Amino acid sequence: MKAEDKIKILILDDEKQFTEELSGFFNDSDYQSIEANTPAAGMKIMESEHIDILILDVRLPGVNGLDILKEVNTRFPNIEVIIVSAHGDMDTVIKAMRLGAFDYLRKPFRYLDIRLAIERTQKFVQLKKQLRQTEERASLITKSLGEKIDRHFIGISPQIVEVFEQALTAANYPDVNVLITGESGTGKENIARIIHYSSPRKDHVFCAVNSSAITETLLESEFFGHKKGSFTGAISDKMGFFEVCNNGTLFLDEIADMPFALQAKILRATEEKVITRVGDTGVIKTDFRIISATNHNLLNRVEEKKFRLDLMHRLNTLHIHIPPLRERKDDIQPLLAHFANLFTSKYKKPNIEISRELLDALYKYDFPGNVRELRNMTERAIILCKGNVLGSGDFMIHPSHPAKVAVRVESISLKKNEISLIQQALKLSRYNIQEAADALGIHRDALSRKMKKYDILISKSEE
Ligand SMILES: Nc1ncnc2c1ncn2[C@@H]1O[C@H](COP(=O)(O)OP(=O)(O)OP(=O)(O)O)[C@@H](O)[C@H]1O
Ligand SMILES: [Mg+2]
Repeated sequence: MKAEDKIKILILDDEKQFTEELSGFFNDSDYQSIEANTPAAGMKIMESEHIDILILDVRLPGVNGLDILKEVNTRFPNIEVIIVSAHGDMDTVIKAMRLGAFDYLRKPFRYLDIRLAIERTQKFVQLKKQLRQTEERASLITKSLGEKIDRHFIGISPQIVEVFEQALTAANYPDVNVLITGESGTGKENIARIIHYSSPRKDHVFCAVNSSAITETLLESEFFGHKKGSFTGAISDKMGFFEVCNNGTLFLDEIADMPFALQAKILRATEEKVITRVGDTGVIKTDFRIISATNHNLLNRVEEKKFRLDLMHRLNTLHIHIPPLRERKDDIQPLLAHFANLFTSKYKKPNIEISRELLDALYKYDFPGNVRELRNMTERAIILCKGNVLGSGDFMIHPSHPAKVAVRVESISLKKNEISLIQQALKLSRYNIQEAADALGIHRDALSRKMKKYDILISKSEE
């Protein structure tokens, strides 16, 4: 066994003969031991060396051994203490055990007794060591993950600077729920991670859940956990997201798609900070912060009776809205430069110059996919670019998608105009229902209903 793996024992007793004898015994066994004959000498050793076990005589002259035990407990909580007491002094033993001593020995004792006591304590010490190492490793993992998270939130526009400031405010209030809204690809998840990793919750879990990606039947057990045997397939007890996120952050992505039936339960868990596993009766306390995100207008969802108003109010204590890229064009150039650098180094390409003509073309573009679209375009352009100047030819920019539908009233029939508007919106959005609905300012379900009503079909060739 290597010296650093050996258990290190400090023997604190005023009888020099006793400490010498015991030390000799330990050093012949697989332990390392150090002797101290006064409390002061003992404390000095504990301050400077890593001690696993202290063998403490509680009958030291002039001091109360129990006071030393208390001091060791508070100053060196990782040291386990075995006390040595006189035969018949049961009162002190009980007091010492209550103060947290691990074991006791009565003088005079046999070597066998001391060996057994050390072995028991050693097992405990090793378990604690392993636990500490696992915890350290886990915190290293979260730390290295945290460092890997893309915390470069690029942007110079006043809108994005404000978003960033709001995120830092949210980080400083780690118990307040935050709702992040914005179109797809504007950086909602990015901001959620920035809030978590800048907050006091950063050393705990950040768990991102997209409830629309989980089947409705499994959702409840995924969120709340379950007890073994509570339903077919529940083969063991399982923690849900709320429990996993204890002290951390639960990121609920696409919150608008949360099934209505589950919303009341989510609301209760969020208000009371206690949950009950499916099939269980006991309550479990858990402390989490919810950051939720959506690219829908939650109020519309509330009006459509698909989202609970009370849950919406619970979730949006702080509301951060990330404007689309086309409304903050100042950010295009720094983002492009950032992504170009990122991908030239990733693909080991020479440094690349960004042409004025490319920037002009990008300023005119609408970016329906926002920053994600710019990132993907840049990645593709860097891969395909032959020279060392990026031009608009390297970017596949589609004609801008319609921001507004031009209204041309042909007759005064409401029905005819509605049909015509829907057809125009569909055509301009290249038959993308979501885009057409956005352009018309109605929900995609409402558009689908109207298309059904008026028999407006999208043929495969049009799609
Ligand atoms: N300001 C920014 N700086 C750097 N990268 C950004 C920024 N905003 C977004 N990105 C990048 O754009 C991509 C999309 O961002 P993210 O996934 O956070 O968007 P989202 O709003 O959650 O989209 P969706 O609604 O589709 O889920 C990611 O690769 C992200 O790193
Ligand atoms: Mg997202």
